[in-house]
Amino acid sequence: MNLDSQNLLDAEAGMFSHIPVLSRELIAGLEVHPGGHYLDATVGGGGHTRLLLEAALNVQVTAIDQDGDALAAAQKSLAAYEDQVKFIRCNFAAYEFTNGTFDGIIADLGVSSYHLDTPERGFSFRHAASLDMRMDQRQSLTAADVINDWDEGELAEIFFKYGEERLSRRIARRIVERRPLHTTVELASAIASSVPPKYRYGRIHPATRVFQALRIVVNDELKSLETFLEQAPNALLPGGRIAIISFHSLEDRLVKHGLRNSPSLRVLTKKPIIAEEAEIAQNPRSRSAKLRIAQRSE
Ligand SMILES: C[S@@+](CC[C@H](N)C(=O)[O-])C[C@H]1O[C@@H](n2cnc3c(N)ncnc32)[C@H](O)[C@@H]1O
Repeated sequence: MNLDSQNLLDAEAGMFSHIPVLSRELIAGLEVHPGGHYLDATVGGGGHTRLLLEAALNVQVTAIDQDGDALAAAQKSLAAYEDQVKFIRCNFAAYEFTNGTFDGIIADLGVSSYHLDTPERGFSFRHAASLDMRMDQRQSLTAADVINDWDEGELAEIFFKYGEERLSRRIARRIVERRPLHTTVELASAIASSVPPKYRYGRIHPATRVFQALRIVVNDELKSLETFLEQAPNALLPGGRIAIISFHSLEDRLVKHGLRNSPSLRVLTKKPIIAEEAEIAQNPRSRSAKLRIAQRSE
């Protein structure tokens, strides 16, 4: 059984399942030191935070996630470290960064396997569920609102811009014809019916890019990342490092430019670090992961 199937079984059993990617590279690149204070801006199931805590003695971690389920799962799994971890539920763009606080900052962007494998969160077209896709369930905008209320031109634009979908216009037209759409599978089938057969039976499901675009829009992911990239570097102590893992080209481009253009940072990774074959074989999700690291000037 590969880790995708294990994740699915865990999600069905109501467990938060997520295998941290590029763990060795992330921890080595951060140079974790005893007594250091680190920020995990995307704690998820707590996998990377646990590695930070195990990497040196008396490490302190401030752990953020905007998803209540993720935070609860991380709190449970890291109960043994309760004196060393402070959990905060917020968007990392809204976190109040204070100058010179952290010895290191990590962010592992996007959704977790738990999100993708939990049908009722509405992130995946593999399971029938209502069109939700909110990482923070306190917010009101859902994917159903976007799909059913936005006009055809706006839909085509976001599919093109955030999904890099070449057939954005015809997909948007078919969606508008079939509205209202209530479930992930209704949406996936509307998309599949609007594209040529060659595309329908291609390497990736024809709904993949549209689902990515919707997720980005519902969670305002790129704007949050831009704000984070502007503010987080100042919160590093001199010599402190920031390490960011991204999963698609739109995110990676922002990370690359954000780190390079920050006046207080020196980029340590000329090229992004990617997963080795052995990790990809174990955890297919790591295939698209890219890690970039930078250091605050002394
Ligand atoms: C890929 S998972 C992180 C997994 C984690 N590194 C681990 O080892 O378990 C990404 C997490 O970041 C959270 N997230 C994504 N964008 C966020 C944002 N702007 N603010 C706060 N949390 C965010 C998601 O809710 C999700 O739980």
